[in-house]
Amino acid sequence: MKKVLVIFGGNSFEHYVSCKSAKSIIENIDKKLFECTLVGIDFDNKWYQFKDDLDHLEKGTWKQGNTLEIEHITNYLKRFDVIFPIIHGANGEDGKLQGLLELLQLRFVGGKTLGSAIGMDKEMSKIVFEHLGIPQVPYLVVEEESSIPEIISRIDFPVIVKPANGGSSVGISKANDKKQLKKAIKEAKKYDKKIIIEKYIKARELECAVLEFDNKLLCSYPGEIKSANELYDYDAKYKNEKSYTIIPTDLSETVTKTIQNYASRIFKGLNINGYSRIDFFYDEVSETVYINEINTIPGFTSISMYPKLMENEGISYQELLTILISNA
Ligand SMILES: Nc1ncnc2c1ncn2[C@@H]1O[C@H](COP(=O)(O)OP(=O)(O)O)[C@@H](O)[C@H]1O
Ligand SMILES: [Mg+2]
Repeated sequence: MKKVLVIFGGNSFEHYVSCKSAKSIIENIDKKLFECTLVGIDFDNKWYQFKDDLDHLEKGTWKQGNTLEIEHITNYLKRFDVIFPIIHGANGEDGKLQGLLELLQLRFVGGKTLGSAIGMDKEMSKIVFEHLGIPQVPYLVVEEESSIPEIISRIDFPVIVKPANGGSSVGISKANDKKQLKKAIKEAKKYDKKIIIEKYIKARELECAVLEFDNKLLCSYPGEIKSANELYDYDAKYKNEKSYTIIPTDLSETVTKTIQNYASRIFKGLNINGYSRIDFFYDEVSETVYINEINTIPGFTSISMYPKLMENEGISYQELLTILISNA
């Protein structure tokens, strides 16, 4: 029996999504193969072993449950055969936690330090996408000294403004004119000093799940997001019940193959391990596929896009967990 440690929570706004992902993992993991322990990281970066009703994870109230603070984190981590980090966003998905685990020479699920760090930073990922020759929408990075007239001279409205390091669509907005641009930058700056401005594209949103499996790379048939709002924003992702996903979606073989080809090149090009969800835009008018972003720790509840795409490939949620842990 392998001892697995699932680390969830974290001090980003994706904390609660992470709690739900952790709950799904514990509920579905093959208990004949793995003995699981849960550790939560709170908003003050303190680590606690959590031993209580999983409903606390669903509700995000785990700190009020039965917890024990871990003081000697490095010693504690060494007790486990495999670590399964399921923290989305800052500190969990951006290579910092991965760096700690690599330094301790521990086995863990998912991308290592470098790939995670590049994947989290939208500017750095774009540089790699460009290097790999994968199409992306025109963009620019706003530095401290960039002025509004300068931005307008370099990119056409409408634009999308986003924090370079973010997730769950937090801090992202569309701007149609100069006034909205100013407001959008101010909003994005709440979350990051570095801001990305992209040309707005009216396109279908397609996602591809990638998994290392049997020494091969499985790039799933793409799924599609049907957002309740114009953008797949925070409300559309987590609250608005009118949003839905289509798996499998209807795409020509050419578009499907293009997405799978890009996904495979990006996964290898960014040096990712284990798994990732890679998100694309498809402009039906120009018949062009654009890379949007990579998520090295994608939403992982049993109804999230990544597990659902794998299920469509014939891999159940439980099998998926076994594969990921075995790969580690
Ligand atoms: N260039 C763009 N054109 C149109 N919509 C966009 C563009 N960039 C982002 N969006 C919308 O905003 C959502 C969130 O953006 P994304 O870059 O995926 O950030 P996050 O990492 O927060 O998911 C996308 O799913 C899409 O709906
Ligand atoms: Mg996204």
